[in-house]
Amino acid sequence: MKDKIAQTFRKLFAREPIVAFAPGRINLIGEHTDYQEGLVFPAAVKQGIWVAIQKNELPSCRLYSEDFKEEFVFDINSFSPKKGHWANYTMGVVSQLQQAGYKLEGFDLVFGGNIPASGLSSSAALSVAIGTALTELFKLTITKKSIVLYAQKAEHLFAGVKCGIMDPYASAFGVKDRALLLDCRSNTHFEVEVDFGDHSLILINSKVKHNLADSAYNKRREACEASVKILQATYPDATTLRDIPVKDLDKVEQILSAELYPKAKHVITEIDRVNLASNALHAGDLAAFGNLMKASHRSLSIDFEVSCPELDFLAEQSWKLPGVIGSRMMGGGFGGCTINLVSNEQLENFQSVMYSSYKQAFKIEADFIPVALSEGAGILE
Ligand code: GLA
Repeated sequence: MKDKIAQTFRKLFAREPIVAFAPGRINLIGEHTDYQEGLVFPAAVKQGIWVAIQKNELPSCRLYSEDFKEEFVFDINSFSPKKGHWANYTMGVVSQLQQAGYKLEGFDLVFGGNIPASGLSSSAALSVAIGTALTELFKLTITKKSIVLYAQKAEHLFAGVKCGIMDPYASAFGVKDRALLLDCRSNTHFEVEVDFGDHSLILINSKVKHNLADSAYNKRREACEASVKILQATYPDATTLRDIPVKDLDKVEQILSAELYPKAKHVITEIDRVNLASNALHAGDLAAFGNLMKASHRSLSIDFEVSCPELDFLAEQSWKLPGVIGSRMMGGGFGGCTINLVSNEQLENFQSVMYSSYKQAFKIEADFIPVALSEGAGILE
């Protein structure tokens, strides 16, 4: 893929580019907790986005998407978001850098990727790859963490999704064979060596992507913020749901409305599950880890209401199959993938049974995507 992107760049712009790469991410557990300063447990994967870039001595930026076979040009000193357009991620990151005081000049850019499904955060991978590429191109002094924050802000302001920090963080900081136990309050992480022994992680791509996902995502975030405001009467020091102890759930239920409570409950219990899951992994207790995956799915589906019939089917059917340690929807929800931990011995059977039963139930041919925990973003030689 790297060669292809670089080659397209040479063909279009007749110069030698710098090439940056940023991966997509999976998440072992900890969904919809990042924007409440909770804990998450993501990892970078092999698949990602490549960006080829070079200065062009012009006042404009010329972009080309290899995947869409489409170009887009904007003036480096005057641009604004374009609803639903892939160029928003580049413009968003450029705008963040400019606001931070970095002086950028015109550049040419080609990008493309091999992220095989929605829900692996190709948008964060793209923003992080662009941030990494621009840092190298203009020799900017920027920490990795700032690139992550600019990528997140770019998504808020240019794509309209009020996402948390998990996706760009995992894309930037990923390490081979490790997951990141990330604290979204301090924005710091521990690397946790992950060895599932004779078990493997495999995603099932539901191939559904519900249209309202972005607005529903923002609504869930607002519901959490509304709960915090109400809870502050009882917990004056609380700034996010992170501050509400899981042992106080009964009390929280008395305070919040029937509509808000389940959403708050999901976040509070999910943060607890991340802690428990990391302990379970540390102790090598895969069964406990698998049960937490299942509990996470139930909570996301029933309490937080971000699943859909397809994802529920994939998770629930998986739980019944031999060799399946755990299965749950992954990421923001309303489509995308489930993440499954399955014994190598049963992996083939798992795929063939799930493929047929899903096809029968929804007339959709699911894809199966094996994932390996991999390195984060960087400049390629
Ligand atoms: C999306 C967002 C993340 C996170 C997940 C849910 O991927 O971009 O910030 O909130 O959903 O865990």
